[in-house]
Amino acid sequence: MESGKAATIHDVAKRAGVSLSTVSRVLNDYDSINPQTRERVEAAIKELNYEKSKTESPKSVKEKKTVGLILPDILNPFFPLLIKGIEQVSKIHGYHLILCDSENDVPLEQRHIDNLYDRGVDGVILIPSSETTHVENLIESSLPFVFLDRFIDMDDASYVISDNEEGAYQAVKYLLKLGHHSIVNLTGPPELSTERARIAGYKRALDESDVECQEELFVCGNYSLEEAYRAIDELLQKGVRFSAIFATNDMMAFGAKQALEEHNKHIPNDVSLVGYDDILFSSIISLTTVSQPAYEMGRNAMLLLLDLISERISTPQRVVLRPSMVIRGSCQRR
Ligand code: RIB
Repeated sequence: MESGKAATIHDVAKRAGVSLSTVSRVLNDYDSINPQTRERVEAAIKELNYEKSKTESPKSVKEKKTVGLILPDILNPFFPLLIKGIEQVSKIHGYHLILCDSENDVPLEQRHIDNLYDRGVDGVILIPSSETTHVENLIESSLPFVFLDRFIDMDDASYVISDNEEGAYQAVKYLLKLGHHSIVNLTGPPELSTERARIAGYKRALDESDVECQEELFVCGNYSLEEAYRAIDELLQKGVRFSAIFATNDMMAFGAKQALEEHNKHIPNDVSLVGYDDILFSSIISLTTVSQPAYEMGRNAMLLLLDLISERISTPQRVVLRPSMVIRGSCQRR
């Protein structure tokens, strides 16, 4: 805080170590703030001699029938169908949709959450970019929100996901039935709920077939084409032997394909390849993959959010949709 200048709500938030929206809720006397947080904020207000100004109150303007969607990577082709499902329901119910791309950056994601709250939206749909995203503000502010596709495990949160464990299990079971026993698990960020479940599905399929789970076949591609390319290129440089790759999203499958071809390894003759998501371009390269019901996931998330906004429901809801295998030409018998 600059000396001589009156303290602002930003100074109070910084001093108390909370978000703007939390300070705003204390100032507006929301009763859902936990006592310790309220104490910290009130102490900061007192220390800084803060006085709430009319223009500064973030809740001064309320967005009319608006919801916010925060997603981790707008460039990933998995998300457009999810957005479409949300947008279709929003339109029918007269809601505007504010789209925020967190670029897999937690601080940016936090700012999006605060900004949406401060704009006075009616609710938020959040696809978290990490497990460390602080959603306490959303919980404390009692702003209706729904996790979509990925979730952070907390009692009072609703979510709409697809069954990632089952999807990965089916993908790896398919490769095992083709006789593959050395299957690379090319994963996204392992701390994400989607990835934890897919790794569990991979391991369950191997366990059921008494196939050893080899540590050297676990490589992380961070859901990115470029990082997947580097991970598979490194495996090939090291001379690690494998006959199949299960990539837990199609973008990484594309990166793996690029690396294999640069090492003169062809799909499916030399290496079988299975992806996940079934994005638009996967059929062009005849990729066998796991299709997620993205459009339905988006629709269900928005319908659930509307129920929370209208208080038709008050207890957390968990919706799990089924993925399905799409068999094309990227695998063959070992
Ligand atoms: O491709 C992006 C991945 O992140 C998808 O598998 C989706 O489930 C999201 O979690």
